[in-house]
Amino acid sequence: MTTAVTPRSATAWYDSPLYYDMVYEDYTQRETRFLRAAIKKYGVGFARRWKVLEPACGSGRLVESLAQLGHDVHGFDLNINQVAYAQKRVRKLKLPAQVWCDSLQNFKAPDMGEYDLAHCFVSTFKYLLKEKDAVAALRGFSKALRSGGLCFIGLHLTDYASNPADYEKWVNRRSGVKVCSETWSAPAKRKARTEAMRTCMTITENGKTRVEETHWDFRTYSAAELKSLLAKVPSLDLIACHDFHYNIKNKRRLNDAYSDIILVLRKQ
Ligand SMILES: C[S@@+](CC[C@H](N)C(=O)[O-])C[C@H]1O[C@@H](n2cnc3c(N)ncnc32)[C@H](O)[C@@H]1O
Repeated sequence: MTTAVTPRSATAWYDSPLYYDMVYEDYTQRETRFLRAAIKKYGVGFARRWKVLEPACGSGRLVESLAQLGHDVHGFDLNINQVAYAQKRVRKLKLPAQVWCDSLQNFKAPDMGEYDLAHCFVSTFKYLLKEKDAVAALRGFSKALRSGGLCFIGLHLTDYASNPADYEKWVNRRSGVKVCSETWSAPAKRKARTEAMRTCMTITENGKTRVEETHWDFRTYSAAELKSLLAKVPSLDLIACHDFHYNIKNKRRLNDAYSDIILVLRKQ
């Protein structure tokens, strides 16, 4: 079988939302269960139906799962293909959700100041390469939330002392399509605070295989750099940390001993 290789791109895996959606599918129920357990544990003044904002919502997998539970979900993303895919998904299922095109660092949402919950998982926050954009995004999350509202940010921290390269692989199948996704992260460049990322998706459908490659940079955060960022947005209090096992019983400290961290922030 021949394999066609498409040129490198900065957004290929987001330009093909179905494949992205398949790769992350395994996380969806775990993240949704975690959010429900976290609201039970940390939520104050949450009604049965929450107002949720998902900044950078991608294909809308979590927009769907939370809207399926009856919550009002709003999400936005920079990538028009992801937005179109998520919009089609909520229309088809007639879900109580809205999705639009917008940016993390400068977004507007219909219910600013009223959201109970905002979440941004799987290191998405690290797309913001400049400190001023990261601060603007956090301020935006804070403005979007009501007093007592909760913000969850999941991201991979960098320990500059060990700083290893990393590799992860996922394989999934849906409706005759097979996707194998491999992601590499290079050791962080400490001064620039970036790590070079590469994802290679091998897609097999209709008897043909092709490869789509995506290259981009993430901003890096040590625990201290993340604390320093959070200190710039004092309206958000860090109330707990968990990890990518999405087990509400497992708490973490924000330090360099453990890298895959979920911040639980509460709006004052
Ligand atoms: C790893 S995906 C996460 C999507 C979704 N939150 C999820 O958990 O499936 C990252 C998403 O961030 C979006 N993105 C990257 N930079 C962005 C920015 N500055 N503003 C808005 N969206 C952005 C990408 O288009 C992509 O859909």
